[in-house]
Amino acid sequence: MNRFLFVLGSNWQLSLAELDNLLKNSQFQGRITDYSANIAIVEFESLQKSRYYVNDLMTIQYILGGCQKIAEIYDFIDIQTIYDGFPKIIEKYKKVDYTRKGILKVINSTLNKIFPRIQNESLFYAVSIYPNLFDDDYYSDVLVKHFLPFLNKSIMSLLKENGAEKSLYYKYPEENIKLGNLNPIFPHHLIKYGLFNKDRAEIIFGFTEEGVYIARTFTADDPNFKKKIDEERPFKEFKSSISPKLAIIMLNFLNLFEERENNVILDPFVGNGTVLLFALIEDFQFYGSDIDGTKVKNTLRNLNWLLKELEEPIPLLLNERVKKSDVKKLSSSFNKEYFDGICTEPELGPFYKQKPYYTEAKELIDSKLNSIYEATFREGYKVLKPKRRICIVSPIFNTIDGGEVQLKIEEIARRYNFELVPMLDLNRIVNKSNRKLQFKKGQVRAIIDAKKNQIIKRKLYVFEKMN
Ligand SMILES: C[S@@+](CC[C@H](N)C(=O)[O-])C[C@H]1O[C@@H](n2cnc3c(N)ncnc32)[C@H](O)[C@@H]1O
Repeated sequence: MNRFLFVLGSNWQLSLAELDNLLKNSQFQGRITDYSANIAIVEFESLQKSRYYVNDLMTIQYILGGCQKIAEIYDFIDIQTIYDGFPKIIEKYKKVDYTRKGILKVINSTLNKIFPRIQNESLFYAVSIYPNLFDDDYYSDVLVKHFLPFLNKSIMSLLKENGAEKSLYYKYPEENIKLGNLNPIFPHHLIKYGLFNKDRAEIIFGFTEEGVYIARTFTADDPNFKKKIDEERPFKEFKSSISPKLAIIMLNFLNLFEERENNVILDPFVGNGTVLLFALIEDFQFYGSDIDGTKVKNTLRNLNWLLKELEEPIPLLLNERVKKSDVKKLSSSFNKEYFDGICTEPELGPFYKQKPYYTEAKELIDSKLNSIYEATFREGYKVLKPKRRICIVSPIFNTIDGGEVQLKIEEIARRYNFELVPMLDLNRIVNKSNRKLQFKKGQVRAIIDAKKNQIIKRKLYVFEKMN
């Protein structure tokens, strides 16, 4: 059975959860059989049987918000062999030499799968190493400084031995190699260097605790496309906007993978319309509202701009799909049981430049946010179809004097007949011995998306409407 390697986004827990949810609930049935903080190994039930599986990989890449690249795996070397061939300190030269020869044999057997034609060809490749964790010493001290140069040079020789006329490799900056601080080649460079062509390739060496997977990249995310939408839209406010990646991931947790063009989603707090812009990109029918009339206008202008960029026709009655409405009156603004999903980031309070005091954050929650979230679930229940989902952001405030403060969103949701759906099904995930790679039960009920020391962290929840 063919296996595929998925390079995960920067929030790897969230990316892994998104991927597993797709493999469990979409037409692309499969399992994550191994993972690290950078990659996931996937076995599909039937993808390889299809002649057009590369097209399927491209579709999957397009659907996922938290996936940087997808590569096909051609072989695997267990971790002990790698440690024997590339120890931290070389003591037994003979053993190292012998083991490296074995490693080269495996690599050699993958080359004719990576390059369909080698004889008389001019070939170019970039080697990318994805470690178990980027902050592992083994990555900076051994993999970057010794394994990478070994791979670059040996693959070059092997290709020539196999009949290539020329073989060249992508050279990472010397400075980074010396410092042991290296990022694998970026997705947009794959396109720039033509690494999807037959005579060019990105060869990934992806590590987990078990060993290293050798794979060739078939498709990559186009971050410039999303960045363009995010940055060039007429109205934007970076302080209060969610990222394109997060918007796409949230939409995927609605579990609407089939015939998206027939699925209607709603964002009752559109702001400048990030969720709706990416709902449009991902083929959904989209509706939205906001209490602030200016925000409604901004969203409509942004949507019109994007439709023009994509050269797509303006949907019928677009101006009536995005309305001014307080979430408290949502069910008078939209039809009952009309929506297939709600995807939203409600009001999170003021943009704090410094950490607030505990009492300040608590007061904000009690006097303002609680009622907004209550209304979202109460009204959301009325406008959602049965068994449909809401994917929602809830804030965590990092306070000066009282640690973290947050809403009791699970209680609120339950009160309005919504059931929490854990974001990751732990029964489907293999166990890892490194604590940094383990998931605890509490961590998968909802997943946090935040940078270090962020004052307001976003916590993502999925709830399903109960009967
Ligand atoms: C955090 S912003 C959403 C930002 C949006 N996710 C984006 O990326 O542009 C919250 C929005 O909620 C709106 N809002 C606040 N209270 C509301 C209410 N009671 N009903 C509806 N919208 C409300 C605000 O006007 C604001 O645009």
